[in-house]
Amino acid sequence: MKITLRLIVSLIFVAALVATIFSYYQVQNEEERLTTELTLRASTLAESMEGTISEPLLSNSPERLKKFIERFIKRDPFVGIAIFDSQCVFVEKSPNVDFSKQAFTKYIMESTTRKEGISYFETIDGIKTHIYTFPLRRDQQIIGSLILTHNASYIESRLKEIWRNNFVRLLILSFLIILTTILVVRWSLTGPIAQIADWLKGLRMGKIKQPLNLPRGDVLGPLANEVTILVKNLALARASAEVEARLRAESESLWTAERLKEHVRQEVGNKNLYVISNREPYMHQRRGGTIECIIPAGGLVTAIDPIMRSCGGTWIAHGSGDADLETSDRNGKIPVPPEEPNYTLKRVWLTKEEEEGYYYGFSNEGIWPLCHHTHTRPIFRLEDWIHYQKVNEKFAEALLDEIENEEEPLILIQDYHFALLPFLIKSKRPDARVAIFWHIPWPNPEAFGICPWKREILLGLLAADLVSFQIQYHCNNFLDTIDRFLESKINWEQFSIERQEHITLIKPFPISVAFPAVLTTVEQPGVNKETLLKKIMKDHNISVEYLGVGVDRIDYTKGIIERFRGLERFFEKYPEFIEKFSFIELGAPSRTHIKRYHDLLAEVEETANKINWRFQTKKWKPIIYLEAHHNHDTINRHYKAADLCMVTSLHDGMNLVAKEYVAARDDEDGALILSQFTGAARELHDAFIVNPYDVEEVADSIHSSLTMPPDERKLRMQRMQGILREHNVYRWAANLVATLSRIRLKKNT
Ligand code: G6P
Repeated sequence: MKITLRLIVSLIFVAALVATIFSYYQVQNEEERLTTELTLRASTLAESMEGTISEPLLSNSPERLKKFIERFIKRDPFVGIAIFDSQCVFVEKSPNVDFSKQAFTKYIMESTTRKEGISYFETIDGIKTHIYTFPLRRDQQIIGSLILTHNASYIESRLKEIWRNNFVRLLILSFLIILTTILVVRWSLTGPIAQIADWLKGLRMGKIKQPLNLPRGDVLGPLANEVTILVKNLALARASAEVEARLRAESESLWTAERLKEHVRQEVGNKNLYVISNREPYMHQRRGGTIECIIPAGGLVTAIDPIMRSCGGTWIAHGSGDADLETSDRNGKIPVPPEEPNYTLKRVWLTKEEEEGYYYGFSNEGIWPLCHHTHTRPIFRLEDWIHYQKVNEKFAEALLDEIENEEEPLILIQDYHFALLPFLIKSKRPDARVAIFWHIPWPNPEAFGICPWKREILLGLLAADLVSFQIQYHCNNFLDTIDRFLESKINWEQFSIERQEHITLIKPFPISVAFPAVLTTVEQPGVNKETLLKKIMKDHNISVEYLGVGVDRIDYTKGIIERFRGLERFFEKYPEFIEKFSFIELGAPSRTHIKRYHDLLAEVEETANKINWRFQTKKWKPIIYLEAHHNHDTINRHYKAADLCMVTSLHDGMNLVAKEYVAARDDEDGALILSQFTGAARELHDAFIVNPYDVEEVADSIHSSLTMPPDERKLRMQRMQGILREHNVYRWAANLVATLSRIRLKKNT
């Protein structure tokens, strides 16, 4: 039976059952009410007649009784009257009822014994009749009985009417049920199912590129989600197969997620990969009444997540989301990515004081400004340093628990939050292979020398088997720093350091992004720039010919103020672009507990407002500053729609926004303006390389990138994509893992 019919039959059955039960009780109540009403009427009538009848009855005057009855019946012909004497002998009656066929004696006796009126129903001449027997009294003596009859057939009619009305209601209800069921089933089930089927068919035949637009919370929401993921996987598999095919055809050395997986398996067998970072890749946050899973902003997560997705393993990080605890198991673990888990995230819990001292304090007010040349002074506090040491120990314990049963485990530590971790791990597990990747720049010895705990930091790092940086220049700075502050043997040919029989390799591994781009939504390949630009303009209520974009954590190292100054100068110098070009800054607030960051938020907004105030017209403004945690889809849409992307960091280890922008441009269009102080500038030579402090140069590069001939723009983008294709994040990971797994541990154990 079809689902619609099944639904209709069940609903009607239930409705009929409910209607019958209710009607039954309604009929019962109505019958009771009408009977009571009739009895009351009869008793009132009998009592009012008692006085008039008693006299002629006692004086034996049937004539008077007859006249009384005649008079009464004239007024109310539907009432029958019969009078009996005290011996139950019939005295007088009205002619409108045939009293002869009835035996009243029993009821007369009962009512005189009980000394009250009694009522009952009989059928007289085929008519349901209400009979009321009333004892007539004079001075407490029973002198006779009065019988009053009422035609009660209207009660039956009324009850039948109730059944009939309720039946008609049931019919109308059934009709509405049928109609509603058909519509609801069509709208919510058969329609969407047909839509999914059409969509799948279209996808299979390559005719459709857009995502499936079904309301996610609806009955078919979960199915639509699953189908979307399935289709995404299919698209990925197809893309991957295409890439593999191209790879074979061109015998190119392209690295893909699959190839990395295979490579890691060959290098390390079935060993797990352990990643440790401060920032977790998936953070659960409470928003209103619901829990949302967000991907934090920042290059580290962007780069490491694709690797973990393809190799699996465990990623240990600080559980900093306010709903992290309730979404993890009792060991702090949760399988991720949420939509398709393939590695484990183990969260480490920190107290407020620990977070304050280790993260905000020593890591971000101490080491971060120490390593970035941005004229922001580092602050070193003893209590922060103590917390930094404690938290490093806490993470070491969490990791040591995990690797307890694993021989020669492979450990990739991320960034400046864990300078002491290599030492803490190696002192307990000398057999572990430990690499630390320092995502940010490493300063020269003079700059680093101001850190009160420089020795401890350097010793902590040197315990690793591999210390890697984004570029050779930072490796050289590190080697110089060791040379200056620690006794050790530096091998400048091999770029290694030997100290107390332990060798540490110091190597650059420029980090990258997943390219060719990993599809994050099904729509990506097909949607063109113009459509996205239109949508973005509509969202912000502007209309321009050219769009620029900047994507940053709001950090003083990112040169956002300098970028805005460059834009201001551009509009001054090239006023023909007023009302033609707007710049959208997608800024994610970051580390806002730190005063410098907190103040920067206001400073960035103020600068944007000032420039807008100066140039804006009724229907246009030069800078649209959107301060929020933007998701990947939003960022990608802006990348694809923007004619240029500005990365103007004052100092940056690599800067993956630059690479993400290039990777997102599958139309091979768009221009990149890139600070010479980023690691990325060493690879992306076809960007417009600028000094962000040089306002004229920034303004001119905006102008050049907007006026450059399309062919040249395309060529530059193709060349940059060529670099990314060859040096993508899979290759980065493959090199890192291969270098680490091939290090000989002989000397260390
Ligand atoms: C930089 C650091 C990362 C850090 C990211 C975001 O890229 O190298 O280690 O995760 O910024 O900063 P946050 O403090 O929010 O983790």
